[in-house]
Amino acid sequence: MTEQAAQIQTEALAAIEAASTEAALEDARVKFLGKKSPLNALAGEMRNLSNEEKPKLGAALNTARTAINAALDASKQKLQDAADAASIASLDVTMPARELPVGALHPLSIVKDRAIQILRRLGFALADGPEIETEFHCFDALNTPADHPARNDSDTFYFDSGKLLRTHTSSVQVRTMEKQEPPIKIIAPGSAYRRDEIDATHLSVFNQLEGLYVDSDVRLSDLKGTLEFFYRAMFGDKTEVRFRPHFFPFTEPSFEIDVKLQVKGEEPKWIEVAGCGMVDPAVFSAINESRGDQAFDPTKLTGYAFGMGLDRLAMIQYGIKDIRLLIENDTRFLRQFA
Ligand code: PHE
Repeated sequence: MTEQAAQIQTEALAAIEAASTEAALEDARVKFLGKKSPLNALAGEMRNLSNEEKPKLGAALNTARTAINAALDASKQKLQDAADAASIASLDVTMPARELPVGALHPLSIVKDRAIQILRRLGFALADGPEIETEFHCFDALNTPADHPARNDSDTFYFDSGKLLRTHTSSVQVRTMEKQEPPIKIIAPGSAYRRDEIDATHLSVFNQLEGLYVDSDVRLSDLKGTLEFFYRAMFGDKTEVRFRPHFFPFTEPSFEIDVKLQVKGEEPKWIEVAGCGMVDPAVFSAINESRGDQAFDPTKLTGYAFGMGLDRLAMIQYGIKDIRLLIENDTRFLRQFA
């Protein structure tokens, strides 16, 4: 019987050797190690053997099972290795990689970042305020009385609560003076909203950058020097900057600023880029009243403020003819600035 066991082992190893797929291997395993295997049948004969024969057959059966198991494991590993090698062989490592799309800054962000960078060099700190504003911060505190046309329902987006979408970033002037002491030197970039008819140069949302400098001896010449420096840093050393008298309720005197620029293929022309002026003492008084102190004494302090359109800067800088392109987020357009 021990010979029989050895015989079965030889047969099994040959079958395993011949199996070329995992399925064939599994068949061999069931056939030679399963319940109905010849080795099991042989084990069933055990009880008919003499006490002397029993351990011999037991040892032979164990040897056969161990050998079959080892052969199965080895063959399985061989098949696996072959499959791995085959899948690597079909891999073309010289194939160019798929390109990952790379994001880029929006032209408005590029221009805004540059403006901030230039102004920070001049000592301005960043300030911020809410886009949903009170009438007080957007108008009253800025010397803009209730009957001022800027407060018309048709010019502004009002909420039922009486709040509104700020029509300019000048509200951040008020917010900052309410919580900080002079001297103050801040810039505040952000969105502003107006009920404009939408066309190539108007949107109901646009972007401004506000500036405010309040100290004991701030002069109009400081304002001029600062803005001239700014626009020359932005558009080139030779850029001409013009201050044109204007009116804003919260500055006195007030100006609009034009820069003379040449858009590609056109004659150089004056383009309006900002509003500015010396802070009206009435604004300081409104701030004091709101704070409940005299921190902004209009007899001791002076200041200048400016508000520039960032969309306009981006359009000039990149020769963009239609402001709507700035909010459509069409990647075919935006990709040009990557
Ligand atoms: N807030 C004004 C506007 O939106 C611009 C401005 C800011 C003017 C600061 C003077 C001082 O048109």
